[in-house]
Parts: sequence; C-alpha cells; structure tokens
Amino acid sequence: AQPSLILAFETSCDETSVAVIKDGNEILSNVVATQIKSHQRFGGVVPEVASRHHIEQITICLQQALAEAHVTYADLTGVAITYGPGLVGSLLVGITAAKAVAWAHQLPLIPVNHLAGHIYATNFVQPVHFPAVALVVSGGHTELVWMPAEGEFKIIGETRDDAAGETYDKIGRVLGINYPAGPTVDQWAHAGHETFQFPRAMIKEDNLDFSFSGLKSAFINTVHHADQVGTSLNKQDLAASFQAAVIDVLVTKTTEALAQYPAQEFILAGGVAANQGLRSALQKAVTAKGIPFVMAPRKLCGDNAAMIGAAGAMLQRHGAHADMSLNAEPGLEF
Ligand code: KG4
Ligand code: ZN
Repeated sequence: AQPSLILAFETSCDETSVAVIKDGNEILSNVVATQIKSHQRFGGVVPEVASRHHIEQITICLQQALAEAHVTYADLTGVAITYGPGLVGSLLVGITAAKAVAWAHQLPLIPVNHLAGHIYATNFVQPVHFPAVALVVSGGHTELVWMPAEGEFKIIGETRDDAAGETYDKIGRVLGINYPAGPTVDQWAHAGHETFQFPRAMIKEDNLDFSFSGLKSAFINTVHHADQVGTSLNKQDLAASFQAAVIDVLVTKTTEALAQYPAQEFILAGGVAANQGLRSALQKAVTAKGIPFVMAPRKLCGDNAAMIGAAGAMLQRHGAHADMSLNAEPGLEF
C-alpha cells in the first residue's frame, strides 16, 4: 500500500480537533480543544456557541497538530474531514478549514462520516475484521451499523428519539449533575441498586431500533413526583435503575442484531462506550456468542480527529474523494 499521511479535522459537535495520522493507524498528533465549560451553564450544547468556539480554535489546533507531528503540508497525502452528521454551523467550520488546506496545497479532500470515524477508532487497536457489526453510542447517536466489507456501512437500527448519551445528560440534570452527566450517573449507578422499575421501550418489538424518550420521562416524573410530595429518593438507586434499563435495551438489541447479521467482530464505539456497566454487559453477551468484542482505546471514544484520520485513510484507499463543492450534511446517514 502507498504510504499515507493524513491531516484530519473534526468539528461536528463541541470538540475542535485536528490530527495527523500515519498509515491509518498511527497517531502522530491528536489535538482536542473541548468547549464543555462554555456549554455547562446551559445544560447542553448550544449550536451557535459551538460554531463560534470552533472558529476561534481551528487555526490554533491545526498549527499545534502539525507542530506536534513534526510534519509540513508538503509531507501530507490527504485531508480528511467530517461532513456529517452533526451541527451544521460546527461542521461548516471544519469543512471550510479542510477545503482551504486541500486547495492551497493541492491535496485530495476525503469526506468522512462521523459514525465511520467513531467505528474506526478501533483501528488504533487492531484492523477491523469483516463482516462486522458496530454499536455507536454517544451524545448524538445510538446506531447499530452493519459492515459487510471494508468501506461498506449500513444502519440496521437507530434511535427514534433521544440518543443514549443525551438521555444520560438529561436525567443527570434532574439529579443536579453538570453537563455531560454520563460519567457521574455511571459512578452513582455502581453505588446503587435497581429499586425502581423503569420502562424498556421497544425491547420486545421485532426491529433493531431504540427509543429513550419514554425512559427519560418516566425518570423525570418519578423525581418530580417525589419532590412534590416531599419525599427524597436515593440518587444512587435512581441512577442504578436508569442504567439497568439503558443497558438492558442496548444489550438486547445488539444480541438480536448479531443473530440477524453474521459478524466476525463486534465493535463498541462512541462516548457512552466509556460506561463500565455497559461495556462489561455487552462484552459478556457478545463473547457468549463466540464473537470477538473490540473497543477503541478509552480516550479515543469521545469525539476526536484521530478517528476521522483512520476512517479517512481507509476511505481514500477505496477512492473516496470530494471537491470544493463539499457541503455539510447535518442528517447524513451513510
Ligand atoms: O462521543 P461523545 O464524546 O460526543 C458525541 O459525539 O456525542 O459522547 C459524549 C456523550 C455524553 O452524552 C456523555 O454524557 C456520554 O457520552 N458519556 C457517558 C459516559 N461517559 C460519557 N455516558 C454514560 N456513561 C459514561 N461513563
Ligand atoms: Zn461523536
């Protein structure tokens, strides 16, 4: 294979990130500027605030990524860019920067789907074995993806409403936890017991889709009702009961997907993959079926440009190429 040295940009949500990736699986640099603090007081990501931060950060991240990798533009073989799904204003900042570099230095522009990026974060551990099934769970996504061969992706199941991480963030807010609430809810869940019965929507339905809005409402109603009648509920038990419902649904649908789609490998990806309870439950269910369970390194589970560079290298091998008309696609599937 040709040597590959890719400059990758990721600005789909609230992290500005630029990376330099060698041969699709070696990180020379991966600069991530997070905006979490600016969004915390709003309890979630505010799109307009996010794009403004990206504009302020993108050139700084780019220069730092090149410097840390000790490379110049002349060394590069391509520019990879997330063009969707994500927030339109945020995506456009990265796309504009990537186009400018590609145009000025006559480099191929490689369009990358953000979900393919999350999945290819595992490429830093080992190459993907096909056919494969992946579960991408993050603040913006809950998708089961079927990959029959390299470069081929098909969404076989997805959330009909809220994403899993978003649900963690919203119920966490009711418990008084700062955005993003996932890690704290996870910690509390481990200290508590499942004493509340929360709904597992669509778990018995004959499809691979998810729905978390009913669980979110049931949780919020339980807490508000207790507030009204002046009783206080055990927060650890609430968290444990919520997490049990989320894990139950994710494990059941993943097991069903693996029954329908023959896989050589199962990949867990996205920010919620950091959840210890989810990881161990899924690992147990998947390996019980004799299927290898693969996960990205923990610090590459959240949004970052390294994963976009890994997917970009693979896509470039398969001929993916965009011109200067590339636009943001906020609702991009595959
Ligand atoms: O992939 P990511 O960094 O950004 C998106 O693309 O959304 O995922 C962030 C999401 C947040 O919703 C956060 O609350 C959730 O992942 N998260 C967790 C945990 N760590 C992060 N959710 C549950 N348990 C965790 N340990
Ligand atoms: Zn993401």
